[in-house]
Amino acid sequence: MRVIFIGPPGSGKGTQAKRLASEHAVPHISTGDILREAIADGTELGRKAAPIMAEGKLVSDDLMVGIIRQRLDKSDAKRGFILDGFPRTLVQAEKLESLVGNGSGGLRVLQLLVPDDVIVKRIALRRSCPNCGAIYHLETAPPANDLVCDRCGAEVIARPDDNEQAVRKRLEAFQRQTLPVATFYKVKSVLREVDGVGPVDEVFERIERSLQ
Ligand code: AP5
Repeated sequence: MRVIFIGPPGSGKGTQAKRLASEHAVPHISTGDILREAIADGTELGRKAAPIMAEGKLVSDDLMVGIIRQRLDKSDAKRGFILDGFPRTLVQAEKLESLVGNGSGGLRVLQLLVPDDVIVKRIALRRSCPNCGAIYHLETAPPANDLVCDRCGAEVIARPDDNEQAVRKRLEAFQRQTLPVATFYKVKSVLREVDGVGPVDEVFERIERSLQ
């Protein structure tokens, strides 16, 4: 199982990718989570990425390709992976080809389709755990106990890049830099479009069906 999720911010990539990875026992590799972890740990990568992410812009291709190269080299990724948030530019997509080998190397690419008005509502009510990365929604998937993470007990928070200005920039970046990646995979006939609107379980069923 080698799957890539493509979709605008708030389309449900993280929610669905975590679940798919767990069902199929392959690692969930989220470049956003890796960068947020680096920021929390105060590493050099984190210091470089923090101001770029806060503005809603993309981190450089060089940095991102280096991160993915290292991650895909780990033994758990040899049995498969779910990529969430990478590739996000044509340069990243081309570099990934050389990392996974032979054309698209058995990749399947899922594009989640969600209109902007739904995205804006989802992001406004999203809360995430800064400790373990669990994702919540205050209406549809709230933590059981106030704002305390069900998994690890940390306080769940709104992400710093979930403000209106940064979300607008992230949507622009998606349109301009990431949609061409969907076309790149469409031409290779490995892209499947999935309607991302509806309850999480229904969207997950659509994803599983589209992978059969
Ligand atoms: P990243 O963390 O990847 O953010 P994103 O792409 O903007 O996506 P989000 O995490 O906002 O949303 P999602 O699609 O995962 O939705 P979620 O499942 O949370 O990247 C952050 C930043 O890092 C980038 O802006 C960039 O700066 C940098 N970066 C990362 N990768 C990079 C790369 N490759 N190159 C360069 N820079 C990079 O769901 C959203 C909400 O909706 C949640 O509250 C959830 O509970 C809820 N929800 C989900 N599904 C449903 C549903 N079906 N119905 C109702 N609610 C739902």
